Amino acid sequence: MTNTVRYRTRGRIAIISLDNPPVNALGFQTRAGLRNCYRQALADETVDAILLTSEGRLFCGGADIAEFGTDLTWRDPALPQLCDELEDSGKPLIAAIGGMALGGGLELALACDYRICDASARLGLPEVHLGLLPGAGGTQRLPRLANVGLALDMITSGQPIGATEAASSGLVDRVAEGDLLAAALAFAQELLDSDAPVRSCADLTVDMGQLPERYFNDFRAGIARKTRGYFAPECCIQAIEAACELPLAQGLEKERELFNACLDTPQARAQQHLFFAERAANRVPGVDPKTPARSIRQVAIVGAGTMGGGIAMNFANAGIPVKLLELKEDALARGLAQIRGNYEISAARGRLTERQVQERMTLLQGTLDYDDLADADLVIEAVFESLEVKRAVFEKLDQVCKPGAILASNTSTLDLDRIASFTRRPGDVIGLHFFSPANVMRLLEIVRGRQTADDVIVTALNVARTIRKVPVVVGVCFGFVGNRMLEPYAREAHRLLLEGATPAQIDRVLTDFGLAMGPLSMYDLAGIDVGFMVRESRRDAIGHDPSYNLIADRLYALGRYGQKTGRGFYIYEGRDKREDPELLALAQTIAGELGIERREISDREVLERCIYMLINEGAQILDEGIACRSGDCDLVWVNGYGFPAWRGGPLQYADEIGLEPVLEAIRHYRESLGSYGEMWFRPSPLLERLVAEGKRFSC
Ligand code: 3HC
Ligand code: NAI
Repeated sequence: MTNTVRYRTRGRIAIISLDNPPVNALGFQTRAGLRNCYRQALADETVDAILLTSEGRLFCGGADIAEFGTDLTWRDPALPQLCDELEDSGKPLIAAIGGMALGGGLELALACDYRICDASARLGLPEVHLGLLPGAGGTQRLPRLANVGLALDMITSGQPIGATEAASSGLVDRVAEGDLLAAALAFAQELLDSDAPVRSCADLTVDMGQLPERYFNDFRAGIARKTRGYFAPECCIQAIEAACELPLAQGLEKERELFNACLDTPQARAQQHLFFAERAANRVPGVDPKTPARSIRQVAIVGAGTMGGGIAMNFANAGIPVKLLELKEDALARGLAQIRGNYEISAARGRLTERQVQERMTLLQGTLDYDDLADADLVIEAVFESLEVKRAVFEKLDQVCKPGAILASNTSTLDLDRIASFTRRPGDVIGLHFFSPANVMRLLEIVRGRQTADDVIVTALNVARTIRKVPVVVGVCFGFVGNRMLEPYAREAHRLLLEGATPAQIDRVLTDFGLAMGPLSMYDLAGIDVGFMVRESRRDAIGHDPSYNLIADRLYALGRYGQKTGRGFYIYEGRDKREDPELLALAQTIAGELGIERREISDREVLERCIYMLINEGAQILDEGIACRSGDCDLVWVNGYGFPAWRGGPLQYADEIGLEPVLEAIRHYRESLGSYGEMWFRPSPLLERLVAEGKRFSC
């Protein structure tokens, strides 16, 4: 017996409890402890039935992810063998599931004879989010116990289901009312009293009766867009197909083969890196995580435009009342109408009921009067991107807001410390940089000013959790982490056009790499005018390069703002876009004016110049302490900029391919691109140091 698994008896029933906080992960020690307890219960003649349950707030978070890549994963008893052994119990073995049962945790339960869960239980197989498939029988037992459709949905989406659905599908036998342990003991006694048999999935086959012939291929086609680039989802499907075709033992073999094919891959490492990065992002150097947070019950947003409206929706969705302040009645009415319109679209798509729309709209209250903000615990400013406009807003907030209210800015480019200085309470000022559309995008950059108080940072992290965002705490600089990294990436895309690449080539190379959208299509979507305004505000930093995004400046002058005007880097007809010969001619003309030699550009060059410059800027940001960890830069780019999660983010990608080739390529372009190369292709000192020391970004 070990201290991560407990054993006790109640009458003739043995109770084995997982007790390995925080999530009862099934590391080697816990697996060994569980097997010992189980064997003890089987050997004990005074025990007639066995309950497998847990201490703490959840049943089990699955295999210990930190063990992957070490020899502990397969150290006897490995999880699949443990599950097989449970399946063979000679006495009724009942899983009593309180809270979450995920991954290997659910697989343990599936190998038991019976399952009971409490009403709040959530059952899931989220391995696909880690670049894996369930590897301890989940793909074989779930379709046998429930059905193929549920297994495909749960395993390829990684989304858990609740107790009611679990009961109606046959995944659990009973939902406990009241105390789980008492209900589970009563259930065990009932089974004994009725001489209920031990059960094995080996005796079950998957019910294929109603399935159309092309069932699996249709399913594949249905998820193809969402799973583009990912390796694991197809393996999940193949494993479930095997469950339909093979006896359990052979199906389990196939599952293991597919699991092993996923385990030691760059994708699995990338996705597991993001799992740990998301958790690490909640730890902020120098801030005690136990610092008491401020309570946020009432939120106010200043500015009901594109961002303000979306930000407000996040809070209404979480049940938090929001006041929306605008300067004029018509702007306020427009903002509220836009929000209602967004909710109505969700209702029309069946994602919300009309009642939910009403409830959310009731939480939103418009106002033109700053005095109405006096009771707000958190105010988020989302007005025009002008320091003077922001000064007026923050001075006013400083006058009307109660002491202790957090004053946040959604600025994307302005100096947060300047904004804080407009108030007499800079410790209460923080940046909350949402991404557009703010009700959809998961990323939230939390900008820590020079004087931002620790409890304000801790509160901001809590707020992010409440509104289901991925928070990343960043320092103050132009563009913070995300937009600052975007800059060299986009600069190269623009410059490559002048050197001879086409928009279609550049976008294709980067979408083939896995980005959700190519950089030039992205600028067409965001608005060429928006990019122009940003450049205008920083000509001092870019003016030394006459070619700097010049083609975009010319498009702006021509009124070609992108999708909104039907022309930008491409021509748009409805949702379709096509290449524009005039744009290609414009690139040629500008190249002539600047004396840039045009040549054929290889796909490899497009990729290296855009992606390696992105990596280089990430290194620079790390070196300056604007981001605390490489994982933070990765989270920003995966959750805010469509970088493929299966590559783990730009810095994880660099770690995977090796920093040396990245550095070498940057040095190569520094030489080969002449004065342009000298201007921009400066390797980050951190990158050089890491290469010299044979290290990686990720520790
Ligand atoms: N292995 C190792 N560590 C884990 C873990 C796991 N399966 N699950 C969570 N942790 C760690 C986290 O890293 C975190 O550590 P930290 O405090 O040092 O940062 C700590 O446990 C608490 O985790 P959370 O902050 O995420 O706690 P929450 O309460 O918010 O969420 C949870 C709990 C829903 C269980 C969430 O942690 C989670 O989703 N865990 C991963 C579940 C999962 O993917 N399971 C499948 C594992 S792979 C598998 O089982 C393979 C099998 O098929 C063979
Ligand atoms: P917007 O122009 O759509 O909305 C701004 C709103 O603020 C308008 O409705 C305007 O009437 C209102 N407003 C202006 N001055 C005001 C004042 N003194 N008091 C009250 N309301 C006032 O602008 P958008 O795009 O929503 O941007 C807002 C802020 O969010 C900016 O700081 C911008 O940099 C930032 N941001 C924008 C992103 C985007 O993609 N649009 C992304 C991330 C941040």
